[in-house]
Amino acid sequence: MTTMTRTVLVTGAAGFIGSHLVDSLLDKRMKVIGIDNLSAGKEDFLADAKLNDRFEFHVLDLLKDDLTELLRGVDTVYHLAANPDVRSGSTDTRPHFDQNVLATYLLLESCRKARVPKFIFASTSTVYGEVDVMPTPEDYGPLLPISIYGASKLACEAIVSAYSHQYGMRSVIFRFANVVGPRSTHNVLHDFIRKLHENPQELEILGAAPGTSKSYIHVSDTVNGIMTGSEKAEGLVEVYNIGSRDWTFVKDIANIVVDKMGLKGTKFKWTGGVNGGGWVGDVRKMLLSSKKLEKIGWVPELTSSEAVELATMDILSE
Ligand SMILES: NC(=O)c1ccc[n+]([C@@H]2O[C@H](COP(=O)([O-])OP(=O)(O)OC[C@H]3O[C@@H](n4cnc5c(N)ncnc54)[C@H](O)[C@@H]3O)[C@@H](O)[C@H]2O)c1
Repeated sequence: MTTMTRTVLVTGAAGFIGSHLVDSLLDKRMKVIGIDNLSAGKEDFLADAKLNDRFEFHVLDLLKDDLTELLRGVDTVYHLAANPDVRSGSTDTRPHFDQNVLATYLLLESCRKARVPKFIFASTSTVYGEVDVMPTPEDYGPLLPISIYGASKLACEAIVSAYSHQYGMRSVIFRFANVVGPRSTHNVLHDFIRKLHENPQELEILGAAPGTSKSYIHVSDTVNGIMTGSEKAEGLVEVYNIGSRDWTFVKDIANIVVDKMGLKGTKFKWTGGVNGGGWVGDVRKMLLSSKKLEKIGWVPELTSSEAVELATMDILSE
């Protein structure tokens, strides 16, 4: 019996999560087309993938290039390309609407024309805003994001849902907690490590002690979650949270980084923050319920602290 090789397309393929997803899809014997405009991603992250003859990579920009022809015959699109910088939205709003909302709309239009049957969207815990139910399930509402980034991602979710209902394209939306691991390029761990290299005696931390409490998830658990959810989702539009079962405080993260860098006696200097968060638009507490994904077979292997520890060691060994 011969099995057909499925062709999938990943946007943001040279990014942090996208490049790991490409590796996993290739492991599952799929033909993978990766696209990225390399604004944040690095082709080096695709070094292994490029050795595989089931992989092809195109430097394309979702805002400038029409993907319709490339999408013909594609079974599933994994849309990860975005401006993922939550903090930047407080000063510069436009990139989130262009890189997230407009880019997603243009991609969906191309998918519709090319009759792509399935669309996977990388969304975020920030769509929930400040919540009063924790762990927060997928059906929590109303969804009132407090950052421009979260708002732009929620707008994308709405457009994805409408395309599914109007044109029959099945979709799966994943709301990630804070993802950490190898090939990350910007997050709290990078900030702390950079600052501590500059001044090992004192670490300036945005916010007030002990800082926000959030769930961290390792990229390996995240990609396993995407693979499980996208294969097993049954509805026309399914939404899954992907987060570890616990959270960690910023202070604990600072302690982990100081410890892994082998420093002693580092003083923490808290800036005071804004509304209990580190910056304008920073959610104070985030813990997702991932029971829906766990019920169909996904198990997060690492806790928040374990994910942070492993990711810190990875960055330090780079
Ligand atoms: N990292 C996290 O903690 C986290 C949490 C929640 C959601 N997400 C979402 O997951 C996805 C991947 O995030 P990441 O952390 O890997 O970010 P990343 O910046 O590493 O990856 C995004 C990739 O998209 C590319 N890109 C951006 N605009 C593009 C465009 N117009 N055309 C083509 N390519 C473009 C960038 O070059 C980059 O390689 C994003 O949608 C992000 O919003 C990430």
